[in-house]
Amino acid sequence: MDNQVIQAILDRKSIRSFTGAAVDRAQTEAILRAGMAAPSAMNSQPWTFIAIDDRERLDTLADILPYAKMLKTAGVGIIICGDMSKALPEPMTGFWIQDCAAVTENILLAAEALGLGAVWTGVYPNMPVVKAVCDLMKLPEHIVPFCVIPIGHPAGKTMPKDKFDAARIHWDEF
Ligand SMILES: Cc1cc2nc3c(=O)[nH]c(=O)nc-3n(C[C@H](O)[C@H](O)[C@H](O)COP(=O)(O)O)c2cc1C
Repeated sequence: MDNQVIQAILDRKSIRSFTGAAVDRAQTEAILRAGMAAPSAMNSQPWTFIAIDDRERLDTLADILPYAKMLKTAGVGIIICGDMSKALPEPMTGFWIQDCAAVTENILLAAEALGLGAVWTGVYPNMPVVKAVCDLMKLPEHIVPFCVIPIGHPAGKTMPKDKFDAARIHWDEF
């Protein structure tokens, strides 16, 4: 099907190798705007962001994250956080996780659409990593780091994976 949005979704892939070139703030803002356009339960928007483009800070963040070493060559790293002061009351509180996941995918797609590379690196619910990010960034109690997205100029060419599997689709009944 010839559709630009669907094509951008199919083109997205994790990029873990960057040139080290800077990502300009206008691009980062455009990416964050796409992130914040995500749906959220009852439109609660329980999120907040730390965008890091200072080289020294990117390196320090890479040092504490075992699976996000690519921050060392990224132009910007976005920490997507859940804001518990905006999360819904129980039993819906946990929807903040899906809300932040929707933001994350929007951000990955926006980076791809701008010709940049990005990768989702997980933080929550890996509690030792959550704590390491909270401590490093001196986050207040109601802010929970959800994931870190290194974004940069791709160092090489990476092909998206074709994951379509017709056998996963159950029409009308399981
Ligand atoms: C919740 C979650 C956590 C992830 N954590 C990491 C990570 O810590 N480091 C990493 O390099 N990739 C991480 N990834 C990226 C996946 O490895 C990647 O999406 C998967 O291999 C599929 O490849 P693709 O993104 O190129 O389609 C994570 C993805 C998700 C959804």
